[in-house]
Amino acid sequence: MDIAIDRFAPITLGDGTAVLFRGDVLHVLPTLEAGSVDHVFTDPPYSSGGQSRGARMGITSQKYIFGDKKAGRYPDFLGDNRDQRGYAYWFTLWASFCYGLLKPGGVFATFTDWRQAPATSDAIQAAGLVWRGTVVWDKTEGSRPDKGRFRHQAEYLLWASHGPHRPGPDAPCLPGVFRHPVRAADKHHMAGKPTALMADLLRITQPGDVILDPFMGSGTTGVAAIQSGRRFIGIEQSPAIFETAASRIRTALAK
Ligand SMILES: C[S@@+](CC[C@H](N)C(=O)[O-])C[C@H]1O[C@@H](n2cnc3c(N)ncnc32)[C@H](O)[C@@H]1O
Repeated sequence: MDIAIDRFAPITLGDGTAVLFRGDVLHVLPTLEAGSVDHVFTDPPYSSGGQSRGARMGITSQKYIFGDKKAGRYPDFLGDNRDQRGYAYWFTLWASFCYGLLKPGGVFATFTDWRQAPATSDAIQAAGLVWRGTVVWDKTEGSRPDKGRFRHQAEYLLWASHGPHRPGPDAPCLPGVFRHPVRAADKHHMAGKPTALMADLLRITQPGDVILDPFMGSGTTGVAAIQSGRRFIGIEQSPAIFETAASRIRTALAK
């Protein structure tokens, strides 16, 4: 498994437009300045399906990669092995740090799946945030079929605010469902989100805002933030995945 000693000194790119930390969120978040973040958009490991000891021992490629053709294409990612109660405690810890970093009225938005949605909404509220709703990401019919069952075609963005939500003066009315397929050319992580999805979601924020993604993975939130004139702080624990994110964000800044 790909774990290294945390590197606390961040990489600063684009004269501070993007600041990237390689390390554990629980080590890095307390080093950031209170009130320095406008919004949090993130995609933590879901730890979904980890109800049994066996399910929690596996590596992510055993869980998410089907077929030899895709094996080894993406590095395994970290932190996907908590049981549901442990997940809710852990989520509350890091989300509480996010609460302290957010400006009043800032948005906290996190992905989850159908299994972990109840634990996630509990943890959001335990962290002191005001849960405001659930947005559906329709992954389209490209998601894995399940014979005789309903297809798990959606993942969810649970969104909340730090106290009363304060939309910007030009805030648009946004849909509650976004339909975006995962395209091979835009996939850089085993659980990577489409860049176009993140661009759509960031429309709730304003140009110039600081967006924090404490689980940036391959940096998709950062790429969408930079492409739309926002600033970005990202954290990722896996060294190999961190390098992918840094490279994608450098490319986005160079355009
Ligand atoms: C679901 S992925 C994020 C994927 C991302 N949205 C993308 O499009 O590439 C979650 C990431 O969080 C990282 N991670 C897990 N536990 C962590 C921790 N304690 N601190 C920092 N990063 C962590 C994993 O290695 C993984 O890359």
